[in-house]
Amino acid sequence: MTKDLEKEVIEKIIPVIRECGQMMLKAKEEDIGSKTEEKGSRHNLVTKYDKLIQEKLKKSLSEIMPDASFLGEENGEQPDIEKGYAFVVDPIDGTSNFIKGLDTSCISVGMTYDAKPVAGLIYNPYKDELFTAAEGKGAYLNGKKIHVNNDAIEDGLVAFGTAPYNPELSEKMFSMVKSYFGKCLDLRRFGSAALDMCDLAAGRTCLYIEPLVCPWDVCAGTIIVREAGGIVTDLDGNEIDIVTKTSIKASNGVAK
Ligand code: IPD
Ligand code: CA
Ligand code: CA
Repeated sequence: MTKDLEKEVIEKIIPVIRECGQMMLKAKEEDIGSKTEEKGSRHNLVTKYDKLIQEKLKKSLSEIMPDASFLGEENGEQPDIEKGYAFVVDPIDGTSNFIKGLDTSCISVGMTYDAKPVAGLIYNPYKDELFTAAEGKGAYLNGKKIHVNNDAIEDGLVAFGTAPYNPELSEKMFSMVKSYFGKCLDLRRFGSAALDMCDLAAGRTCLYIEPLVCPWDVCAGTIIVREAGGIVTDLDGNEIDIVTKTSIKASNGVAK
């Protein structure tokens, strides 16, 4: 597939991701709050909307690109995405925000080729913000080109994730976050890894860090940040492996 085709695929996904956003906006409080389930830990919740949106995306994406594999957070069995094209999907990123009515959640659709992120869409229906990127074609917010900012760490906001489903990492995480608190403008914990990456790409923050994330949390965000001129590595500065869980450090390239 050529890069132009990746752009074409994005165009075809846009109406689908917007419809999924409408499902989030119309979600009924009683369906969200009282019908949550736990996945492995009391921190990790799932609602019927996570499942409905994933089903819708799985069906629509298979019509758009029948040969691509589908890796979704709410899948039981996960396909091997090492070779060829795959969609890496988080139907709702920021589920606890969604349950609590914080209006800071999104739908994240990444596309990989041989396990490298090549295109991505992230939609925040509450702000009607649609972020898109395809490799070599730049990153966009509602069709307008975006770029990371130039903030040095002293002048910039640092967003962090708490890796809430891995409490064994909390000491390491809070000591790292504390060291940033000493040097940055201020810290932010928004509750959606995908939106944290979009905020960086849009020049709102200078850094996003988290000690453990899953492929669907950061696949689309990685290509969006890179196409906006930012850098994405693990916390040790190594290339991230999108197929497995990883730590993450996304920066504007200036803030350290
Ligand atoms: C979570 C959110 C959160 C991040 C976690 C993710 P979910 O995703 O992105 O901000 O700290 O690591 O797992 O569970 O809401 O899809
Ligand atoms: Ca997620
Ligand atoms: Ca999710």
